Amino acid sequence: MEILEFEIVPDFIRLTTQSELPANNEVKELPCGDKLVCVANVNGEIHAMENTCLHRGGPLGAGVIENGKVVCPWHGWEWDPKTGQAHAPGAKVAVYPVKIEGGEVLIEI
Ligand code: FES
Repeated sequence: MEILEFEIVPDFIRLTTQSELPANNEVKELPCGDKLVCVANVNGEIHAMENTCLHRGGPLGAGVIENGKVVCPWHGWEWDPKTGQAHAPGAKVAVYPVKIEGGEVLIEI
């Protein structure tokens, strides 16, 4: 009898398909379970982070990318999608590891 082995990756869950990712240097908010995730494409690198701006709760995924940063659409705070750090000291949102497998986008959340 043949025994099949497969990798169990319990922490990564499906976010979307690769074709639904934001275009180069654009950002999107995508649903993941009961929350929205901010997904940024910075020069072809895909990053995912918390969608809620710590300033006044603006939707980061509805913002724009300028100079590699996600700019909140409400008051312009800038967030580094690689680290979750804002330009304001001490303001940091969660970032989620992303991987793409077979056209599916998975995040660890
Ligand atoms: S809510 Fe994001 S900058 Fe104010």
